[in-house]
Amino acid sequence: MSNITFTMIKPDAVRAGNIGAILQQITDAGFAIKAMKFTQLSMDEAKKFYEVHAGRPFYGELVEFMSSGPIVAAVLEKENAVADFRELIGNTNPADAKIGTIRQKYANSVGENAVHGSDSDENALIEANFHFSGRDFF
Ligand code: GTP
Ligand code: MG
Repeated sequence: MSNITFTMIKPDAVRAGNIGAILQQITDAGFAIKAMKFTQLSMDEAKKFYEVHAGRPFYGELVEFMSSGPIVAAVLEKENAVADFRELIGNTNPADAKIGTIRQKYANSVGENAVHGSDSDENALIEANFHFSGRDFF
């Protein structure tokens, strides 16, 4: 599978009622949904998912937040998916995100920033396989 990225609509955006608007913006931008579920990460799952950040000062806060409520996890397909999706979501810190990006519109802070987007093709596959198995893909 190539040209895929992995996303999560994070607990803050779910709580704010923004699932529909965010999915609309994603599909309007030309991404096709290959797999999707509404789920919640346990603390252990959030720790594992964000293991690369384990040494960072915000790791505890990140794990706590990401397991604090339900999320939407999805695998998206488009040419140049990883880079185009990061462009669509905008800077990690919504204060620095371009106008019209998902984080500029829906995120509150660098910690609670509405959406996740994979940072490489390799991580997109790892993250997709973390949440989904073969029969979940369409
Ligand atoms: P993701 O798509 O979620 O991976 O975000 P990113 O790739 O734009 O940022 P990065 O991978 O560097 O950080 C992962 C997540 O950690 C961010 O999305 C934030 O939720 C959180 N994070 C990053 N920096 C900070 C910070 O300084 N403080 C807090 N509280 N959280 C942070
Ligand atoms: Mg990242």
